[in-house]
This record gives sequence, C-alpha cells and structure tokens, in this order.
Amino acid sequence: MNKIIVANWKMNGSTAMAGGLVPAVASYAAGVRCQNEMVICPPAVLLPEVARLLQGSFLALGGQDCSAHAPGAYTGDISASMLKEAGCRYVIVGHSERRQNHGETDAQVCAKAEAAIAQGIIPIICVGETLKQRESGAALDVVAAQLKSSVPSASQHFLLAYEPVWAIGSGKVPTSADISQMHAHIMANVGMGAKIVYGGSVKAANAREIVRISGVAGLLVGGASLNIEEFCGIIAAAEE
Ligand code: PGA
Repeated sequence: MNKIIVANWKMNGSTAMAGGLVPAVASYAAGVRCQNEMVICPPAVLLPEVARLLQGSFLALGGQDCSAHAPGAYTGDISASMLKEAGCRYVIVGHSERRQNHGETDAQVCAKAEAAIAQGIIPIICVGETLKQRESGAALDVVAAQLKSSVPSASQHFLLAYEPVWAIGSGKVPTSADISQMHAHIMANVGMGAKIVYGGSVKAANAREIVRISGVAGLLVGGASLNIEEFCGIIAAAEE
C-alpha cells in the first residue's frame, strides 16, 4: 500500500528557501518514481508560492492549521475555504504545538477538522501523549480520550497522526513495539479503515524502519523536512 509523507515546515522557511527546496524535492521524488503520496505544509504566507512551485508535480499542498469558522471577524485566523482556494488538499489540525501554545481543546480540534472536511480538505488530526503521561502508563488512555473528542464521528475523510509530544524535535523515538501498539490502539478506537501516520524525530536514518512498522500509513516530518538531503533521504527510505 502507498504511504503518505507529510512535511510540516512549522514556522520556518522563506520564499528563497522554498524556491530552493521545493523544486529539488519534487524532482528527486519524480526521479525515483516515488509511489508514495507527498504533502508539503509551509507557513500560510508561503502557500501561494509553494503552490506555484508545485505546479506540474504530483506533490500536494497542505496547511498547518485552519479556523473552525467560516470567513468573518477572526483576526489572524485562516478559514478552510481560504486554504482550499490556495490549493490545499490537506491541513494539519490539533498539532501538539497548537494544543500547548494556543490552548486548543479536543472540541476545537474536532470543529477545525469538520470545517476542513466541509471544504473537501483532508484534515490530519494529531494526537499524542506527553512524557509524563507515557511514564505514568497513561499513554493509551490519553490518546483514546483525544480521539474520542477530536475526531469527527460523521466522517471517514481524515488522516490521523500519532505524535508523542516527547518525540517531537527531541531526537527521541518510541520503540517500534510502542509505535505499533499505539497505532493498533488508535485503529481499534477509530475504526479499522483509519490511516495513521507517525510523527516525531523522523530522520533519513530511521524512516525506513518506522514506515515499515505495522499500522504505520506514513510519516509526518518536521525538522528533517527543511533540509533537502535529509528529506530526500526520507523519501527514498519510505519508497524501498
Ligand atoms: P519533528 O516534528 O520531525 O521535528 O520531530 C514533527 C512534527 O511536529 O510534526
């Protein structure tokens, strides 16, 4: 089955950086006859530029967040319809950095996912436990609770991302057994058709092993997606 590789640039990048990285990654992916689906999620102001750079390639564009609301008086927010117009096929919602830094609740994440689905955009709904929760043995319960309230019940048109908070940007990765257990747990909670990508310190050096773990439908890549060589290494590793 094809995998999905999602690049989450977070609050990084510039027009110059995009101009170097996007064509290089797109031509590398085409050169290796990449069978996997690929999505680039730049900061919102770079969406039109990255959309332009992706023209003619098979790579998809994604947002990093969207409002739960229709356009209106919401200063600083971006609606799903605006992402749609910018060419987004996907949007990340409920990333732990938004849950932590912006106090987003499961209910808000669910509303954002619903707003995306209503526009025909596939939300990538993120869940994951903190280190404290993992160490206290609560990881499975925490993720089950997140799923219960942040995943729209009326739709199957979403992707899930398991991102242990302690693995993001830390260089630490759960054991393959732990990833496999959590993905099976998520599947059991959400339904057997669910597609679940893994995110948290994915690098070229570990992508091959992670993407082959049972239940892992792909990878959500942060830091390593900003480096051409590293990201192309991940593309190659996921392909083999
Ligand atoms: P990381 O981030 O790959 O830099 O750990 C992943 C993410 O937060 O999506």
